[in-house]
Amino acid sequence: MTTIAKTRFIGGALAVALALSASRCAAEGKTAQLIIRADQGKDTINRNIYGHFSEHLGHCIYGGYWVGPDSSIPNTRGIRNDVVQALREIRIPVLRWPGGCFADEYHWKDGIGPQENRPSMVNTHWGGVTENNHFGTHEFLDLCEQLGCEPYICGNLGSGSVEEMADWVEYITFDGKSPMADLRRKNGRDQPWKLKYFGVGNENWGCGGSMRPEYYADQYRRYQTYVKNFSGNQIFKIACGPNGANYEWTEVLMRDLAAGRRPMLQGLAPHYYCGTGSKSRAATKFTEVDWFSNLQRALRIEELLNGHEKLMDKYDPPKRVAIIFDEWGAWHAVEPGTNPGFLYQQNSLRDAMVAGLTLNIFNNHADRVKMANIAQTVNVLQAMILTDGPKMLLTPTYYVYLLYKVHHDATLLPTELAGPEYAFEQDKVPAMNVSASRDNSGKVHVSLVNIDPHNAVEVKAQLEGLRAKRINGQILTAGEITTHNTFEKPDTVEPASFNDAKATDGGFTATLPAKSIVVLEIEG
Ligand code: AHR
Repeated sequence: MTTIAKTRFIGGALAVALALSASRCAAEGKTAQLIIRADQGKDTINRNIYGHFSEHLGHCIYGGYWVGPDSSIPNTRGIRNDVVQALREIRIPVLRWPGGCFADEYHWKDGIGPQENRPSMVNTHWGGVTENNHFGTHEFLDLCEQLGCEPYICGNLGSGSVEEMADWVEYITFDGKSPMADLRRKNGRDQPWKLKYFGVGNENWGCGGSMRPEYYADQYRRYQTYVKNFSGNQIFKIACGPNGANYEWTEVLMRDLAAGRRPMLQGLAPHYYCGTGSKSRAATKFTEVDWFSNLQRALRIEELLNGHEKLMDKYDPPKRVAIIFDEWGAWHAVEPGTNPGFLYQQNSLRDAMVAGLTLNIFNNHADRVKMANIAQTVNVLQAMILTDGPKMLLTPTYYVYLLYKVHHDATLLPTELAGPEYAFEQDKVPAMNVSASRDNSGKVHVSLVNIDPHNAVEVKAQLEGLRAKRINGQILTAGEITTHNTFEKPDTVEPASFNDAKATDGGFTATLPAKSIVVLEIEG
């Protein structure tokens, strides 16, 4: 059996004929036929699709980034250098903070001024621990400057006031004389920061206030009115989006906020977690049933995007409102012996697959998806980095971000893929997915994911508009589906060179091993 996966570009009669013949060819064995239209493409893959999310949750902020200036762990103004360096390597483009559910109980004024004077609070969502507010607005914006990324702040609509939200934006961005700008100066920062991305609440259908969409839409209208553009700073306002397949949420928000001459939002932020396995929820102790079910749920994000985009197109055909997919990823059981409220999980080759295929899907929706933020960067859920005191390791998911950075701000190329299926018990899913882009220098990059844990797939690719002269590749794979990096053996899963791609007359061939991710660079 064969599946034909097309991107959302409509091909001509030739494309259909090729795809059909490809489908017949693929039906005969584990081969896939790929067409890449290297001379086409109109949408840019916004680098913010490779964005991140970090919440005051477990050891993401405290221990993950923040160790304090007096720590023996090398740091710059309290922020650990090893973590900053690792995230700079993947060119982290944007970081969302302070939550998550935490955002709608966070009162930012508790997190400014001398640290010893900052009041503490209870982090009710995440372990009921005491939050001492040592990491606040100044520390977060310093972190973003060290990382060289855009800050994305989520405001408190659920339990905060309109005034509090308005004051935060004024505090950060106003360069004149005002109560908030003066307070910022008193706290040591003379110049305002630039702040583009601002979320008006988080999951307000749940932890952010249990609101109905109509109620949230009205609240959003009111709060966003006071989120002002000061001193040349232009805010991109992001509304809380739907949970998974809650299409009613998208319909009501688009109808009430986006249908007018000037939309009241620039971004809508859906959330979707693909969960974990069917039998075992463990991050590293699972069998094929869990591998299959987790990846099947990860692939569902394509269907969700299509559903929400259809509604967005209904109210906003010119695509003025972007999808900002600001929480996604795999959610497994916490590591044994750790605080259940801290969401600390290991990260295996399976998580790399989740990342690789999801990022391909986001790339292919680049006309509407302008940002995505995997949850969460350090020590929480599908993390890039795990730390243990002074030790740090990079997860398989991190390496997907390292390999895929070639897609940042590149032009998305139309692709068509006719490939084999991966069948397990009574069910099946496409074994492969793909996205391709052309960068400023004309190089084409193709990211291919083969989730079948047993079978290699031979990809026969036709490159339209480019004659491949040189092909380089990198591969991420491992011996077992559960393979992962540990503090004792941190280099178990790492990218390696891939030399199994060859230029052919009209394109190239490449044999993808079972359970692998390959990124090719093609020069004409
Ligand atoms: O990422 C963990 C939590 O998941 C976030 O705080 C919340 O927004 C979502 O439910």
